[in-house]
Amino acid sequence: MIIQILSLFPEMFYGPFQNSILKRAQELKLVEFRLINFRDFTLDKHRMVDDIPYGGGSGMVLKPEPIYRGLQFAKETKPEAKVVLLTPQGQTFKQQTAEQLAAAEHIILICGHYEGFDERIRSWADLELSIGDYVLTGGELAAMAISDAVVRLIPGVLGSDESAQKDSFAGNLLDYPQYTRPAEFEGLCVPEVLLSGHHARIEAWRREQAILRTALRRPDLLAGAALTEREKQFLRQELDLKI
Ligand code: ADE
Repeated sequence: MIIQILSLFPEMFYGPFQNSILKRAQELKLVEFRLINFRDFTLDKHRMVDDIPYGGGSGMVLKPEPIYRGLQFAKETKPEAKVVLLTPQGQTFKQQTAEQLAAAEHIILICGHYEGFDERIRSWADLELSIGDYVLTGGELAAMAISDAVVRLIPGVLGSDESAQKDSFAGNLLDYPQYTRPAEFEGLCVPEVLLSGHHARIEAWRREQAILRTALRRPDLLAGAALTEREKQFLRQELDLKI
C-alpha cells in the first residue's frame, strides 16, 4: 500500500513513522509513506500557502492552488487513489473506516492547517474524516492516527492476523480483559478461569466479558454486534445484577 500525505509539516511524521509497527511495516515493504510538502507547489516567490479570507474575518485560509498541484503530483502514479481530507467537519473515523481504507492500494491524506482551507479543496476529496469532536491545530496528528490504524490491518503487518481480528471494535465489541503474570499482585487476582488451562471455558469467558464490557461502557456499539439468543439472555441477567 502507498500512503501519500500532503502536509506543510512533513517532519512531524518522522517519529511516529520511524518506530514500532509502522517502521516494521515499511521494512517489510507492506506500506510506503510518501510525504509531500505542498509548499513546494507554490509558484510565487514568497511560497505563500495561505491568504486572508474573502468577505473579511480573522485568520488565514489555505489557498487552493498549492494543494491542487500537490494532489496532481501525488495522483500521477495512480489517478484512482482515494483522496481523504482531514477535517473536524468530516465523518468520524471508526474501525470500520480503517478496514475499508486498509483494502485500498493507494490513499492520499490531505492535512489542513491554520484556521481553515478554501472550500474548493473539499471538491477534490473522496472522503472527509475527523478523528473526534475536538479541533487540532492541523490534520497531521489525525493523519498519523489514521495511518497507524490502517497499516496495522494490512495482512502480515502484525505478528499474526489473529491479533487484529481480536482487537477492540472488531465485531463491534470491546476487547476482553487481559492478564499476565503474576497471578496475584497487590491483592488483585487473575480470574480463576484463566488459570484453568481449559481453552473452551476461557474462550467462553472472554466472549462474555467482551459483551458485558461493551454493554457497560459502549452500549451504542452493541446494536452492531451479532449476539446469539443465549448471549442476549446472559447480558440481561448480568445487567439486572449490576443495576
Ligand atoms: N484537523 C483539525 N482537527 C481535526 C480533527 N478532529 N480530525 C481531523 N482533522 C482535524
